Amino acid sequence: MLGQGSGFGKVILFNEHFVVYGLPAIASAIGAKTTALVERRPGSGYELKDERPETPGYKAEKFEQQKESLEIMLKFMKIDTQHNLYSITLGGDLLAASGVGASAASCAAVARAFSQELNLNFSDEKVNEVAYEGEKGYHGTPSGIDNTAATYGGLIWYRREGSAQRMERMRLRKPVEVVMGNTGKVADTKVVVAGVKERKEKEPEKYARLFKDADQLAQNARRELEAFNLEKVGGYMNENHGLLQEIGVSSPELDELVKLSLGAGAVGAKLTGTGRGGYMVALTPGRDLQDRVAKAIEEHGSQALRTMIGI
Ligand code: MEV
Repeated sequence: MLGQGSGFGKVILFNEHFVVYGLPAIASAIGAKTTALVERRPGSGYELKDERPETPGYKAEKFEQQKESLEIMLKFMKIDTQHNLYSITLGGDLLAASGVGASAASCAAVARAFSQELNLNFSDEKVNEVAYEGEKGYHGTPSGIDNTAATYGGLIWYRREGSAQRMERMRLRKPVEVVMGNTGKVADTKVVVAGVKERKEKEPEKYARLFKDADQLAQNARRELEAFNLEKVGGYMNENHGLLQEIGVSSPELDELVKLSLGAGAVGAKLTGTGRGGYMVALTPGRDLQDRVAKAIEEHGSQALRTMIGI
């Protein structure tokens, strides 16, 4: 027997970081997934084969966090590793990199693969709970947006209310092309999230103003996304990037990719996910525009992922 499962990669379109503090955020699954295979064999413990494609250095840098994450999930799912050996293999076409929800996608995939291998009949809700626990291995205080996007897919409006994770599905008139540009730098979510907290405590007034703007921005962006007013959505992405710069999570590499995407005609662009490395995302409706922006990123020497939101 072999249990199988998968989790979606994601792009955060609005309000990463702000979402950690209970503000609303918008994320979409992208057309790439992480898969997991689980096989139960005689023995004890677990072994992990990580066959995901990666940004160089990502797996080595995340190895300890990945181990911690797996152990938290095994415990939470009450998997008996004393009397069984579990062989876990990760794969799929999602690049293991910062900014695409790689850790959350792998957590959802692992939960689903265990559920199938051991006939645990996990609902999506349960998979999401397990993946949330797993995300704690990568950073102590996940907002829950990554595991929710990885588990359910689609386009989501997400907000954390105390310990509750509230998700609403959003509909796009049709899927829209985006380009995700990879800085090639691995970012540590734990460190970047802690940096925001520290600066927020030091400058409460400035951060109160930025948080108020971010709250309003997400509401506006939702309205324009649902009305399929993509020029306006792009403008809000640019504004969101500005707010993320102000809370100190961008980087010169991200700013440069954002600038050159806009120069190539993208209707909006911003960093996505943790920041300080990882990916940015450009809104590029239509294949031609998508190609033009992706080529500009590639000519600059960075990797470009051509994908869709609202699928
Ligand atoms: C990371 O993909 C998104 C952050 O907002 C952290 C979180 O929401 O847990 C930076």
